[in-house]
Amino acid sequence: MTVAQEQTEHGAGGLSRRGLMGLAVGAGAAGLAIGAGTGISGGVALGRARERRIQDAAAAGDGIHQPGITTPVQDHLHFAAFDMMARTSRDDVASLLADWTYAATRMMQGLDVSATGAVGGSPEAPPDDTGEALGLPASNLTLTFGFGPSLFDDRFGLASQRPDGLERLPAFLGDDLDPERSDGDFCIQACADDPQVAVHAIRNLSRIAFGRARIRWSQLGFGRTSKTTSDQSTPRNLFGFKDGTANILADDAAALDENVWVPASEGPAWLAGGSYLVARRIAMLIETWDRTRLAEQDRVVGRDKAQGAPLSGGDEFAAPDFAATDAAGAPRIDARSHVRLAHPDTNGGIRLLRRGYNFVDGTTDLGRLNAGLFFLSFQRSPERYITVQRSLSTDAMGEYLKHVGSGLWSVPPAPAPGASIGAGLLGA
Ligand code: HEM
Repeated sequence: MTVAQEQTEHGAGGLSRRGLMGLAVGAGAAGLAIGAGTGISGGVALGRARERRIQDAAAAGDGIHQPGITTPVQDHLHFAAFDMMARTSRDDVASLLADWTYAATRMMQGLDVSATGAVGGSPEAPPDDTGEALGLPASNLTLTFGFGPSLFDDRFGLASQRPDGLERLPAFLGDDLDPERSDGDFCIQACADDPQVAVHAIRNLSRIAFGRARIRWSQLGFGRTSKTTSDQSTPRNLFGFKDGTANILADDAAALDENVWVPASEGPAWLAGGSYLVARRIAMLIETWDRTRLAEQDRVVGRDKAQGAPLSGGDEFAAPDFAATDAAGAPRIDARSHVRLAHPDTNGGIRLLRRGYNFVDGTTDLGRLNAGLFFLSFQRSPERYITVQRSLSTDAMGEYLKHVGSGLWSVPPAPAPGASIGAGLLGA
């Protein structure tokens, strides 16, 4: 059922009956919530005005690719992985994606999740929207949806549509993965310039999923570690180094076609124009790094800490010269430096679009910062990511890192107007 049909059948609230029951059951008041979702309340005028705004406004993104990939990287992240619940059906997957699409489209425009929203419904029912984003602007919120390998197992009749290579990532040297921070049937990447807006989005999408899917794990991120447009400054990661210098930029259509978008010739039809998203929760051994000499830090990265310039010379954006040697004949950019091993020259020309964030999740039992980089990258195939990470197996930076979470998802293209995310996959 399309979002438009959902709205016709279930009223201006736009959420399906099951979605609404999910919200209500969560609060122990199923019957009341259905009334709330149909917008029969004193707040209906507010709801209708907002509904007009959503119809007038253009959908976020370019209409071909989902937003949140080439969009200028926002300052904050809330990333969540979801699993479908036991005894759910393919219809539940379809209705969930329809409800998510509807609510996501609204929230990306700064609106409540439904027309009645946080305060426009019945006072006797729990509100559709949790309310903490009331009065806040959209803050460039983008919501990007991905489908994990497990969605294509035998539960929902989708196995024949599984893209080749959409498998759990293989084990890599240095992995110490926590299964409870890895994988998931779906992922949703919420990025916004206000952390409250990103958290509100994941919280409400989770509520809408009630009874159909549940959050498996989630990660907050602050401080982007990449740039996706030439006018964004290059930020710094928690090692204090500029990160994102050599990233693929939104205006480089040729590089995006070559490295990020899945061509029609390469995958199931439903994924054409989409991408693959890799998430790696990488713990950084901050205290060890902070006791390391500056010259050694530079050697490990292959760039200088001040400017982010390659150690072979030039400014930040100079191309690294891996053949350059010093007076003693040693390579200026170390053979085990991160930049050399991650560089396209070392990886058959492969480039990744990186979109990661810093995180600090309190302190460990040893009183150390539980900190790191929540690495996110978009690429045309899982193999391309695997190639680069295998190349990094001898990375000198590996001594200061531990990969503790991991996930791979296929990212469908943007839905056609009025259709749901993944409509091509589900035939909805
Ligand atoms: C905590 C972990 C990591 C840190 C602190 C880190 C840091 C950096 C820094 C400082 C740069 C140089 C500036 C730039 O071009 O962005 C860089 C480049 C890069 N990194 Fe990482 N990185 C990490 C993990 C990874 C992982 C897991 C991958 C992929 C498997 C990766 C792939 C790349 C790529 C492709 C480049 C660009 C190389 C080039 O074209 O010059 N990085 N990283």
